[in-house]
Amino acid sequence: MSGRPIPSRRTVLRGAAVAPVACLGLTACSTDSGRATSAAPTVPVELGSAGEVPKGATKLFTGERIVVTHADDGTYKAFSTVCTHAQCPINTLEGTELICSCHGSKFDATTGQVLHDPATVPLPEVPVTVKGGKLVAGPEA
Ligand code: FES
Repeated sequence: MSGRPIPSRRTVLRGAAVAPVACLGLTACSTDSGRATSAAPTVPVELGSAGEVPKGATKLFTGERIVVTHADDGTYKAFSTVCTHAQCPINTLEGTELICSCHGSKFDATTGQVLHDPATVPLPEVPVTVKGGKLVAGPEA
């Protein structure tokens, strides 16, 4: 027998009742049901010099939770890097592949599409533009 006490039925039921309430305070609570959450910035966010993402390059901005690609035709695309599976921040970019360390989902950083489950929902696209030589992502960007 282990030394760990077995929780009473009341303790288990109390925990189950509190969990959904605790989730209300978070901006990124969701299920695997397919709905992206408010992972994208709600205000414009300056990412730095546009020169940091030259044509053909992809850069992960971990602090801002955004990935930016700069296509050969000069256009930029940005996606949230909050995993659509269970909202872990994605901190690994290998080439153009984003890898979530929580459960192993993979996404294409240039399209946001899922490359490997358990995630089933693409990363939400975030508007991005260059203003005064700086990359700006978020609404009204
Ligand atoms: S939170 Fe990213 S794979 Fe589960």
